[in-house]
Amino acid sequence: MVDIALLKPKIGEQIELSGWAYNFRSSGSIFFLQLRDGTGRVQAVFSKSEIDAESWAVLENLTMESSVTILGLVKAEPRSPSGIEVQGSSCRLIAATVGEFPISKKEHGTDFLMDNRHLWLRSIRQEAIMRVRNEIEFAMREFFYKKNFVLTDSPIFTPNACEGTSELFEVKYFDTLAYLSQSGQLYQEATSSALKRTYCFGPTFRSEKSKTRRHLTEFWMLEAEASFMDQTENMALQEEMTAFIVSRVLERRADDLKTLERDIAPLQKAAEGAYPRIRYTDAIKQLQALGSDIKDGDDLGADDETILTKQYDRPIFITHYPVEVKSFYMKPDPEDPRFVLNADMLAPEGYGEVIGGSQRIDDAALLEQRIKDHKLPMEAFEWYLDIRRYGSVPHSGFGIGLERSVAWICGLEHIRETIPFPRTINRLNP
Ligand code: 4AD
Ligand code: MG
Repeated sequence: MVDIALLKPKIGEQIELSGWAYNFRSSGSIFFLQLRDGTGRVQAVFSKSEIDAESWAVLENLTMESSVTILGLVKAEPRSPSGIEVQGSSCRLIAATVGEFPISKKEHGTDFLMDNRHLWLRSIRQEAIMRVRNEIEFAMREFFYKKNFVLTDSPIFTPNACEGTSELFEVKYFDTLAYLSQSGQLYQEATSSALKRTYCFGPTFRSEKSKTRRHLTEFWMLEAEASFMDQTENMALQEEMTAFIVSRVLERRADDLKTLERDIAPLQKAAEGAYPRIRYTDAIKQLQALGSDIKDGDDLGADDETILTKQYDRPIFITHYPVEVKSFYMKPDPEDPRFVLNADMLAPEGYGEVIGGSQRIDDAALLEQRIKDHKLPMEAFEWYLDIRRYGSVPHSGFGIGLERSVAWICGLEHIRETIPFPRTINRLNP
């Protein structure tokens, strides 16, 4: 059995293919079967006079998404998008559908498609998105492997919060309580003190009540951390990584981007690097000039990010946020401690924040003070303070959201299509 994706070099050969019938039509004596096997789609043409009666009966009774195995000859077909076609010589049924496949060619509402996510994934668009997602994940891992970062996975059950206590999922943990991890960062600070450069890549959880096109309650995040790396180097690393991922998708998933009708010009810009760095204070002024009612000291909302990113042709870094709007662990700028040494990387075309990163506080006393200011339980952070007590070094890191990256690179309206089975405030099924 051969993959449809590997058919092209087999012109002139007899092959066996297994897959699902995603479409078909018949002219009485000729049967056109559109077959998909998850690696691609191809048309197989059968003529009644040239195949056995049993095969013809299978074809005549076929239903959408029934599974079949066919035999045939691969032929060049310039009119087909793939350039090939199969001249079928037999068709054997693996399994017929039980009733009609719920997703038809007609328009379906989003809720219906989401309820049938397990079946919707078989559509050409969803298939393309999943392949781009795979390419991005693989590119990320390859990038960090080549940069000598060691993958050190952070735990998912955690005793404390990292990114703010209001968004925690609580779970019963024997006779105590645990929280699902919101970020693996604190653990990466420990592992990077052991291995210099580390990262984790796994699911993170936030019980965000936000019903937006950018929020999931369970999302995947890659978090990198490096000892002796300052915030300037941190941004350079993020830029290099982003350019690498985008180039990789352009190079290897061109067909899928085409299926998604993605305009690749903005991606080509992102692949070049040279992302502008804009200080928070200047971003506020720029936003006000563009008509936003944002006030100095406010965090950037999704709308502000959209307005701002539309002014640039590639991702941008917004740097030096006010201490008050960011997490407790961010290092204040020694030149102006009202601001922190951080950056959010915003994707262009209105996509907004994809990366959050910063230099971390390396002074034990200051960190302890910040934990108190944020009313966090000190006992839970003793181990985290140890990192500063035993040979503290300047260090920085960042977290990139996988689904936000997929949404941007694929050019999707909504984050729910970026992950096989999305979890949102109102969806836990299927
Ligand atoms: O900016 P965030 O909250 O940063 C952190 O968690 C840091 N601890 C990272 C670090 O420095 N190691 O989240 C990082 C990224 C965001 O920029 C966004 O891409 C993604 O995670 N993200 C979400 N993606 C989908 N749904 C949500 N609810 C998300 N919240 C954050
Ligand atoms: Mg953030």
